[in-house]
Amino acid sequence: MTDTTPTPEPGPRQSWETHAAASGDTDVVAISPVREEGMLTDERPDTSVFGPDVVARARELIARYPQSRSALLPMLHLVQSVQGYVSQAGVTFCAEQLDLSEAEVSAVVTFYTMYKRKPCGEHLVSVCTNTLCAALGGDAIYRRLAEHLGEDGRPVGHEEVAGAPGEPGSIMLEHAECLAACDLAPVLQVNYEYYDKQTPDSAVELVDALRRGEKPAPTRGAPLTDFKAAELQLAGFFPEDDATYRAAVDGPSQAVETLRGAQLAADRGWTAPAMADDVPLPALDSKKEGR
Ligand code: FES
Repeated sequence: MTDTTPTPEPGPRQSWETHAAASGDTDVVAISPVREEGMLTDERPDTSVFGPDVVARARELIARYPQSRSALLPMLHLVQSVQGYVSQAGVTFCAEQLDLSEAEVSAVVTFYTMYKRKPCGEHLVSVCTNTLCAALGGDAIYRRLAEHLGEDGRPVGHEEVAGAPGEPGSIMLEHAECLAACDLAPVLQVNYEYYDKQTPDSAVELVDALRRGEKPAPTRGAPLTDFKAAELQLAGFFPEDDATYRAAVDGPSQAVETLRGAQLAADRGWTAPAMADDVPLPALDSKKEGR
């Protein structure tokens, strides 16, 4: 097929021109500043959605690090706990809080897949389609969920939402790289909580329960919440009283399969070689002064 896209002339370009000139399957958003509803403008976005309580939490994050810019990753999770994604307003908010440029913040947002560049569903369903899970059924699970969550015969795509984003029962589906649970493959996660040894049928049952407003218990780990609540935890904010905190984060965290190697070693008396105690650890560079 002949590509009829005109070749851009050299020289400075308006952002909408470079956006339009990219081919259809180029992930332009990944290399452009994030803008609301795909629009690129030079206006400062309205950051009023991040009220005094969010600003206070942002200041708390900054206080946790010797250099304020180190608070960027948790601050982006804080932004997602408010909006369900990192909007351009979120980028501006972080840049202003941390005295960074918007380009520096955008570079981080677009690098890590945990930062969503469009509004997420109430829940994020991540299906591992990396090698081991894929071979054991992960691809089939993803395909079945994409079709099941789609409409009018069109499956939902990677990072697309079934339902109105943020509304109860809405679900963003995504491919995920290895979720570090290969011993329990094929696995999927809902808001980063594990559901092990899935099948296409069990995955469909799970998303149907989510759409009904239920919160099926993960195979292990903390109880299921929703994407925004999980993001607040990832930002490092938990309930203050111990009982509520424990209820929010506690759960069985290990599976028999995961411990099988350690158990075999213990049964057979195998141990790792002792660490040589005469090898000095390399000195760390002293921290440099920074923002
Ligand atoms: S390949 Fe799926 S958890 Fe490792």
